[in-house]
Amino acid sequence: MINKNLIFLLSILVLLLNQVHVNARSPKNILVGSYVGGRSHLKPMLDVVTILIERGHNVILLTSGKYEPSSEYPGLKQITLGPKSLTAKNNKRINIHKDVDYRAMGQFMELATATYNATYEKFKNVAKEDNIDLFICDALVNQACIDVANNLNKPVVGFTSFMQLMEPKPYKSDPMYGCNISLENESFFERFRCTLIQPLQIAYAYGPSIRKLNDIKGQMNINPLPQSSAPNVQVINDPYVKSVRWIMIH
Ligand SMILES: *[C@@H]1O[C@H](CO)[C@@H](O)[C@H](O)[C@H]1NC(C)=O
Ligand SMILES: *[C@@H]1O[C@H](CO)[C@@H](O)[C@H](O)[C@H]1NC(C)=O
Ligand SMILES: *[C@@H]1O[C@H](CO)[C@@H](O)[C@H](O)[C@H]1NC(C)=O
Repeated sequence: MINKNLIFLLSILVLLLNQVHVNARSPKNILVGSYVGGRSHLKPMLDVVTILIERGHNVILLTSGKYEPSSEYPGLKQITLGPKSLTAKNNKRINIHKDVDYRAMGQFMELATATYNATYEKFKNVAKEDNIDLFICDALVNQACIDVANNLNKPVVGFTSFMQLMEPKPYKSDPMYGCNISLENESFFERFRCTLIQPLQIAYAYGPSIRKLNDIKGQMNINPLPQSSAPNVQVINDPYVKSVRWIMIH
């Protein structure tokens, strides 16, 4: 009996010590960056950072427009990247009644490329002014976030609302590809098209934007992403365009 009580008390002590140890860690400054923004991109990550805020860390959200559901996240500070011009409503070239496919994404890429310099400056200024320790970057057309983190030698966590970016599966597609999500009942030709032809077509469509972005980065002397990484860093190839890479720390 005494033994059991002792063990119980000891385990409580260990838990308390652990708590003190956790609380004694210095709070970190964390930047969540998303070029496109919006609830569908941000909500899952903001739910995660809410826990970090509760643990005493400072979290800043850097995204386009004014993130309206921020009232849901009272501890979150938002700095805007500028007016939100990327919504279907604001873009006359996108028909919101049609499915969004890779062509619409091409327009986002053009806009992100055209504003890369300004976006990079904003990320860099926030990173310096707020002494950012950790970057959490939406992977979609958000190279500036990843590049600033990389150039300042800070860790990056990538996140995406496109599962296909993280785990391409031959039996699953992405509506962005112009294919059905499940290829289970599709013909052999349809599977062939979705697995091989569509990715090439998309690489061809995105090529000019990517080359332009690489030119701009060259002019700005932005270091390319490192080829080799620490073992805890996983570099994921972007299946849309192989020259775009992002890093996930797990
Ligand atoms: C997807 O599935 C629907 C219904 O199952 C079918 O009509 C359509 O042809 C398929 N392919 C594409 C590219 O949507
Ligand atoms: C494929 O067909 C089978 C049999 O008709 C059906 O049970 C299944 O739900 C279908 N799968 C999809 C993804 O539509
Ligand atoms: C980036 O922007 C800064 C200031 O806005 C400008 O001085 C610089 O020339 C630009 N660089 C490129 C490569 O466009």
